[in-house]
Amino acid sequence: MNDPEMIQASKEAIQACVPGFVPEAAIIFGTGLSSLAEDMDRAVSIPYEEIPHFARATVESHTGELVCGFIEGRAVVAMKGRFHRYEGYDMRAITHPVRVMHAMGAPILIASNAAGGMNPLFSVGDLCVLDDHINLLGDNPLIGPNDENLGPRFPDMSEPYDRALMSAAERIALEEGIPLHRAVYAAVTGPCLETRAEYRFLRGIGADLVGMSTVPEVIAARHESMRVIAFSIITDACFPEALKPVSVEEIIATAGRAEPKLNLIVKRLLRELDA
Ligand code: HPA
Repeated sequence: MNDPEMIQASKEAIQACVPGFVPEAAIIFGTGLSSLAEDMDRAVSIPYEEIPHFARATVESHTGELVCGFIEGRAVVAMKGRFHRYEGYDMRAITHPVRVMHAMGAPILIASNAAGGMNPLFSVGDLCVLDDHINLLGDNPLIGPNDENLGPRFPDMSEPYDRALMSAAERIALEEGIPLHRAVYAAVTGPCLETRAEYRFLRGIGADLVGMSTVPEVIAARHESMRVIAFSIITDACFPEALKPVSVEEIIATAGRAEPKLNLIVKRLLRELDA
């Protein structure tokens, strides 16, 4: 089966659960960041295993379901649990849900993740909005035959993150008294965390944050001309000269503590779309 057929089959299975539902935005919830899904009105959750061509989430901290519902009166489709390269999925499997959410009608992608912070001006627990990224996955979801119906062979990446959405998020953060940094995110495969030399290298090439997700989905979304905004919560400090071991439990706990601030920004962003 080729991509358009797979996208169509996934979309039809979802639409059978939520007839007539057309999302105004797609959301990807990152590690420890899915509580907004519990706040959704008229939510319908569909386990990934019930959607043809969706991979299965294998990481404990990521459940695997697609949730359709309403936040601040906006129809949204949200991924509770995403797929990572380190789980062994290929880039097309990782990005398939983005293709499907776009096919359902979502013109906007809102992504979130937990990331290590390398910029010395940032602290653990701080929130960032991505301004740019560096793809160090050694792979790209667009490798292979290009479907011109989805997007161009050589998509532009001069501005992966939507300026207007970013400005709106910054205005909202300012009004709410929530510090929000602009940041460059480097995507690595994991699953190891980085060595001190790797953090030094990543900082040296211009990254403020490092994480194991988001960039594949952003590339697929931009291929289809979706407007994209992505947020990171800094869950651990990655300063090579003062590096301490971190545990995944700590990362999840820190993400959970910062989550209410992120939820507030995302809710207002949705409420004020096109305002
Ligand atoms: N490195 C890579 N991924 C991460 C990190 C990190 O330090 N923290 C959270 N995700």
